[in-house]
Amino acid sequence: MAEVGANTPRHVAIIMDGNGRWAKKRLLPRSAGHRAGVKRMIALTEHVFDTGVRYCTLFALSTENLNRPEEELKGLFGLFREFFASNAETLRKKGISLRVIGDLSLLPADIGTLIRAGEERTAGGERGTLVLAIGYGGRQDILAAANEAVRRGKEVDEETFSSLLRTGDMPAPDLLIRTGKELRISNFLLWQCAYSEFYFSEKMFPEFTDEDFDEALKAYAARDRRFGKL
Ligand code: IPE
Ligand code: IPE
Ligand code: MG
Repeated sequence: MAEVGANTPRHVAIIMDGNGRWAKKRLLPRSAGHRAGVKRMIALTEHVFDTGVRYCTLFALSTENLNRPEEELKGLFGLFREFFASNAETLRKKGISLRVIGDLSLLPADIGTLIRAGEERTAGGERGTLVLAIGYGGRQDILAAANEAVRRGKEVDEETFSSLLRTGDMPAPDLLIRTGKELRISNFLLWQCAYSEFYFSEKMFPEFTDEDFDEALKAYAARDRRFGKL
């Protein structure tokens, strides 16, 4: 296990990409890849909070992913239902708070209800916060915050603007990991990642192991974060 120390990131964000390609390589339907992805996600988050990380934000569904074929979305929504219905209590027992960022109005209403129930049940967990980005887009997040600022009718500074984002009360990600070989941010936490360290893995998400995560922590610990200073 990675050592908890001053160089342990407080907030790690992960773009969980590659479920479809993982399945394709095994001649399985894409839905099997998503199922394997959720299974890996549950096991990995357990490990993440053991390393001393306090916030873990996982990109599970982007605003743009909602344009995928009906059939795929149906499968994904089914997995979200299962996840929230059967994991909230487990997370509560482990002291992990669950939070969802994203536009819930883009999802079937019953999923929104399950999400709110899961958030309430796990509220106040002291070990860490698991944030799922579902129906989330970085640009949409920024636009909503900008519109809120306009509604308030007063110029805002960086701190106030940050607080208007869906991640409002959380620290910015220290480390952003993307699995699945692609070297892009795909509309994830655009404002929040201004000074995050990036780590890209060639592994597809279902095969991204706890040890792979530790490798990313090790790489992070060796980075020199200057924030523009000398
Ligand atoms: C990431 O895996 C999960 C979601 C976007 C829902 P993908 O479904 O994008 O998998 P690939 O990129 O097609 O392999
Ligand atoms: C990013 O993956 C979104 C999630 C992992 C939820 P995509 O598969 O949607 O990204 P692109 O389309 O390859 O940029
Ligand atoms: Mg993808």
